[in-house]
Amino acid sequence: MTKIEKIVLSYSGGLDTSIILKWLQETYGCEVVTFTADLGQGEELEPARANAEMVGVKDIRIVDLREEFVSDFVFPMLRANALYEGQYLLGSSIARPLIAKHLVGIAREVGADAVAHGATGKGNDQIRFELAVNALDPSIKVIAPWRQWNIRSRTQLLDYAEKHRIPVPSDKRGEAPFSIDANLLHTSTEGKILENPAEVAPDHVYQRTVDPVDAPDTPEIITIGFERGDPVSVNGKSMTPAALLTELNGLGSRHGIGRLDLVENRFIGMKSRGIYETPGGTILLSAHRGIESITLDRAAAHLKDEIMPRYAEMIYNGFWFAPEREMLQALIDHSQAFVSGEVTLRLYKGSASVISRASPCSLYSADLVTFEESTIAFDHHDAEGFIRLNGLRLRSWAARNGR
Ligand code: ARG
Repeated sequence: MTKIEKIVLSYSGGLDTSIILKWLQETYGCEVVTFTADLGQGEELEPARANAEMVGVKDIRIVDLREEFVSDFVFPMLRANALYEGQYLLGSSIARPLIAKHLVGIAREVGADAVAHGATGKGNDQIRFELAVNALDPSIKVIAPWRQWNIRSRTQLLDYAEKHRIPVPSDKRGEAPFSIDANLLHTSTEGKILENPAEVAPDHVYQRTVDPVDAPDTPEIITIGFERGDPVSVNGKSMTPAALLTELNGLGSRHGIGRLDLVENRFIGMKSRGIYETPGGTILLSAHRGIESITLDRAAAHLKDEIMPRYAEMIYNGFWFAPEREMLQALIDHSQAFVSGEVTLRLYKGSASVISRASPCSLYSADLVTFEESTIAFDHHDAEGFIRLNGLRLRSWAARNGR
């Protein structure tokens, strides 16, 4: 085993990383610095400090990254309308590069030669953490205890915790918890009964949205303002990125918006089933598409839609800090120069529907499209020639086929 001088651990304060913290100290016999990111997971972070102090950690970092998360990661991704496999808003995927960036930053600051994370050997998150660390500082080593120790399952993990007197949290029902990852953008739940995709997810799996069936019977109308592709206000009130997403999460969760039960293809090669709740993000995706619909040129919009799946896959697979992602980002950001204005949506029993849009930079021309008489010169005969030439090759083809 390579000698390690000092390790920075990405530490949630939860069961897995508490065990990892203990294991790192015992296995490497070196100082471990803990880093806990506040990404708006809605959990008390002080227990993380208490737990770290308990095992003798001297350097404990708890950092509020909510604004950076939303402004530098979530919003750039949203400009692309990114969805993985057509449905997943990438809530966990987009948080990993940010955590990795700060792990690397702290490692440099404290002179650590390694960083460690609690992601397992079967998942995407290990790939995302490590590719990001590679891209940001190739001299830093990565320790992934889940791939090194001989704990092989959650059950064995619980046994280890019991043996080392590490407290095991249980959910409200007194059972071992699901595997949950939460931040300002989403909550993802995996494991236990959800591992059988044929089983219907029980209601208690959902943490931050009401069942649309139980959502208010009266719709709620909201207006979101955009500037250059990014949301900047709700109902006329300007907000910082994190405050805005927090506000929309509240609205979305009340109206049961953004639930997703998905079987997805992990990068590592297996299928997995998870429940996602992305209330504010789902509202923002509708709203952003709404404002783009009047401000983007057709070819620009279609090009964005063509590259979107590749861009989403780069984020899902962990290539945020990679040249190809940055290239596509430049294209996407360039497209947003005139994506400004206001979108009104109706929130009602699980849906966020655009009901109006307006922009000072609109390309929409009522005068051009109108069924009534128009002042804009549009010669209907031009359409005849347009269709005749577009039909030229179809007529040749049909004649050859003997139709
Ligand atoms: N499958 C999702 C992804 O790869 C979520 C992973 C983390 N979620 C969790 N519940 N452990 O982005």
